[in-house]
Amino acid sequence: MNLIQDQFKRPLRDLRISVTDRCNFRCRYCMPAEIFGPDYAFLPSQQILTFDEIERLAKIFVSFGVKKIRITGGEPLLRKNVAQLIERLHHVQGIEDIAMTTNGTLLKKFAEDLAKAGLSRVSVSLDSLNEERFLSMNGRRGKVNNVLEGIEKAKQVGLQVKINMVVQKGQNEQDIIPMAHFFKEKKHILRFIEYMDVGNSNGWRLDDVVSKKEILQAVHRFSPIEPVSPNYKGEVATRYRYKDSDQEIGVISSVTDSFCATCTRARISAEGKLYTCLFATDGTDLRELLRSGQTDDVIAECIAAVWQNRTDRYSDERTEHTSHQQRKVEMSHIGG
Ligand code: GTP
Ligand code: 5AD
Ligand code: SF4
Ligand code: SF4
Repeated sequence: MNLIQDQFKRPLRDLRISVTDRCNFRCRYCMPAEIFGPDYAFLPSQQILTFDEIERLAKIFVSFGVKKIRITGGEPLLRKNVAQLIERLHHVQGIEDIAMTTNGTLLKKFAEDLAKAGLSRVSVSLDSLNEERFLSMNGRRGKVNNVLEGIEKAKQVGLQVKINMVVQKGQNEQDIIPMAHFFKEKKHILRFIEYMDVGNSNGWRLDDVVSKKEILQAVHRFSPIEPVSPNYKGEVATRYRYKDSDQEIGVISSVTDSFCATCTRARISAEGKLYTCLFATDGTDLRELLRSGQTDDVIAECIAAVWQNRTDRYSDERTEHTSHQQRKVEMSHIGG
């Protein structure tokens, strides 16, 4: 095993692989419909990594100590036969945990195949239980019940489920407590995500962020909570437990309480670019190396050099000003 560290001594531990840049939702904070409209140029299929290519890269990343893989998108369940990819990754020696981040709309249909293929966990996005507000946030594409049925099915087939709720001022603050209440009863871990300035198309403003502190105060008023120590060093969400039950919640506070110091995540976009930060402006083209007949050793050297030079700490340095300075890659492109 060739363990590598970046310029701030952060190891490479997790790999997030986007399998498509397409989505059946148009969440305003991610793929606003006015930009991702009928004329938007999504990647043509020949530019997207094949399962063979993804598997090959995954094995190289494992040689650097990666044990955890998360499949993302766009919406990963739109990628044809994605369960077959999970099955292949499940058989790669050294991969101990495979998770997926999904909007849940196709989960009812695919959960069983995914679990059989070796998927362990899903993070399902859901921003509101109120139909009108959910429709308004997802670009009028998906119904609450459909997602809830997907969540139930995932649980039934043995997948560990977490729920992700992006909280945005003026949109769904009023849903913090109903969501907390509902998922406390259902015994699912709910994570509140601060609205972030990923990409350039969502028109992010600091004023639209509901802070971790505000979120925690709201939840605490509903039912008192206390902190829980992290599951692992560098966990994205800060965890809390309700004082009157074992049920926990989490907050992902990239804006008001960033966590770059412990960030061990590399991302591969659907077309095979390696990104070392969610807020990167550009990535390193691994597809070119794969398709020009380079050996695994050459590709590994390239990845190692990128990681060893890494100095990313975007969220630690963010101000409203920096957020509009650079042209960042879109979230649907890089994967969440
Ligand atoms: P586990 O801890 O393994 O359960 O996964 P996770 O919480 O990292 O995965 P998930 O995809 O559910 O992450 C939730 C959200 O956290 C993502 O969709 C992003 O919005 C945010 N997030 C994840 N990783 C990072 C990161 O490195 N930086 C920032 N700023 N946000 C991140
Ligand atoms: N801010 C915070 N979270 C976001 N997500 C997508 N865009 C943003 C944003 N601008 C979340 C989704 C999903 C995951 C893929 O990332 O809601 O949970
Ligand atoms: Fe699709 Fe997820 Fe982006 Fe919403 S946040 S548009 S569900 S990729
Ligand atoms: Fe990692 Fe970049 Fe997120 Fe910081 S902003 S935690 S460096 S992905």
